[in-house]
Amino acid sequence: MNKMVICCAFLMVSFLVSAEDGSKLWLRGKAVSAEVAAKRQIVIHSESIVVGLASKELEQYWAGSSVELIVDKKLKKLKDGYTISSSGRGLTICAGEEIGLLYGAYHLLRLQQEGKDLQRIAIEEIPDYDVRMLNHWDNLDGSIERGYAGQSLWKWEDLPRTISPRYAQYARANASIGINATVLNNVNASPQILHSDYLVKVKALADIFRKYGIRVYLSINFSSPKILDGLENSDPSNKEVQRWWKSKVKEIYTLIPDFGGFLVKANSEGQPGPQDYGRTHADGANMLADALKPYNGLVMWRAFVYSPTKEDRAKQAYLEFMPLDGQFRDNVIIQIKNGPVDFQPREPFTPLFGAMRQTAGMVEFQITQEYLGFSNHLVYLAPLFKETLDSDTYADGSGSTVAKITDGTLRPAYKTAIAGVANIGEDENWTGHHFAQANWYAFGRLAWNHALSSEQIAEEWLKQTFTDEQQFLKPMIHMMMTSREAAVNYMMPLGLHHIFAFDHHYGPEPWGDRQGGRPDWMPWYYHNANSAGLGFDRSATGSNAVSQYFPPLDRIYGDLETCPENLLLWFHQVPWSHKMKNGHTMWEELCYKYDEGVQQVRQFQKVWDGLESHVDSQRFAAVQSKLRIQAQDAIWWKDACLLYFQTFSKQPIPYDIERPI
Ligand code: GCU
Repeated sequence: MNKMVICCAFLMVSFLVSAEDGSKLWLRGKAVSAEVAAKRQIVIHSESIVVGLASKELEQYWAGSSVELIVDKKLKKLKDGYTISSSGRGLTICAGEEIGLLYGAYHLLRLQQEGKDLQRIAIEEIPDYDVRMLNHWDNLDGSIERGYAGQSLWKWEDLPRTISPRYAQYARANASIGINATVLNNVNASPQILHSDYLVKVKALADIFRKYGIRVYLSINFSSPKILDGLENSDPSNKEVQRWWKSKVKEIYTLIPDFGGFLVKANSEGQPGPQDYGRTHADGANMLADALKPYNGLVMWRAFVYSPTKEDRAKQAYLEFMPLDGQFRDNVIIQIKNGPVDFQPREPFTPLFGAMRQTAGMVEFQITQEYLGFSNHLVYLAPLFKETLDSDTYADGSGSTVAKITDGTLRPAYKTAIAGVANIGEDENWTGHHFAQANWYAFGRLAWNHALSSEQIAEEWLKQTFTDEQQFLKPMIHMMMTSREAAVNYMMPLGLHHIFAFDHHYGPEPWGDRQGGRPDWMPWYYHNANSAGLGFDRSATGSNAVSQYFPPLDRIYGDLETCPENLLLWFHQVPWSHKMKNGHTMWEELCYKYDEGVQQVRQFQKVWDGLESHVDSQRFAAVQSKLRIQAQDAIWWKDACLLYFQTFSKQPIPYDIERPI
């Protein structure tokens, strides 16, 4: 081969690789030809940048009939949603706000990519939540707390002068699924983010995101006044501190007129907060809320608080926040993790949902897989998200789901919101695992419409991201739909929780014990394995965490006989010989569940291997090798946990399951 040919071959290979590397996410529509474009018109009546963008997207990718984009400010009930209708002349997208037209345009492009019938369309879309937000746990040094897709997307060193093209790609991907807010930095916040040098960098990002309807928020460190400007303290009742926040907020809004507000982790895991000065969460949140109010800014105040007291960790957020119900300003929203401990593979919903009647609450999910195999395991999270959103709190009688409590249906709020901790980094494919893109996608789709089914979202995503061939879709929808339960099975079945290896949370370490370590960071605190049984007694005979739930849940969870078996060891310490509904003893069931998880992943491997002809070689190989890691890890989990718990159960491992290695 001569030099030229080698060079071309190399170029072709690198072209193919970059064309198939997953960087396009689900946005894989093909640009239409000039001929197709000439046959239809995209009509707009606005000079606005957002509307221009909507029109540009359609110009480039829409292969159907003409589309007219109309903003009608009277259409308030649509919020930032839209209608799409068809008539003899083509299609009309109508919205009450300009951004609605961009969302409508992406909706059309999605339908087209899915191969849907586009002849007769009558769509009305109103988002369920006002604020649909990603939380980035990105540090200013470029690392990401619990991030598994490389370093941070934000190049703080280069900003504001150098603008990475990925900023706009990120914003476009978010807008295509309706995400309209982003918190740029870690909840364990560096005070430096509020330094003027950083604020101009934040402004540069906000200027890009604005075109896509995305508002920027920042996590703040409660001690910022003292650390940044040497104030005597950061006590919220100190007038100087209040003035400091007011002037900081003014500085931010001067640079970023549509700034969203602050996310705050205070008096949690060593972070400073109002309690350092004998003040309450409400005192701290309200001080910030008052500074933000003139600009319509919001405070997301996190309820993730716990300390090594005698009290069950799962009860602490409720105990700390319930006495403050009704004391928060209307522009404060309490941001509550979906479960009462910490993003475990399975948790019941946090009992604060519904319990606080006079305070707005929002759900925080974790999209990044801190407790679900990082970016190595294929775990589709829509079923986990839905499990929380569809949970009935019974707060206002039956049907008071977490979704209805937080979306304004049952508790009208100044603003409703939902957040997901992002799984995005600078990896070529954004999320480390190609299938982790589905979790970003699913979070956005559910934040827009929590009634969508997990299957529907999986199908949409697969069709756009891979192919619409049925031979591919059917097995892959099934794989995605069972993947979360598989992970629960091979990690922590029957309500087990937090038996992860210390600190990094990747593999199993139920035996873990660090001399002098905090008990609430030790696995035995959660599994309580001994000769009598396994699990955390949260019934009336134990920590009585069940009492934080509304009737009849308190009774259902509190009784070993009625407690759902998938939460059994969450709420009870269960004798090894306890008879499960299927006749197994608890010990046997534990063994079968761990084994089932392993077998499920083995099946995922077989299914994926059989689909090679439907997937480009780069993504095929990448997912294949991740599934191998997942299968190995599943065995590791099963063997480690069963062999460890067997030292307490003293029972044989049933002979019909895969033997420990
Ligand atoms: C978990 C996680 C921490 C994180 C914390 C939080 O504990 O391991 O890294 O800071 O949650 O949500 O604040």
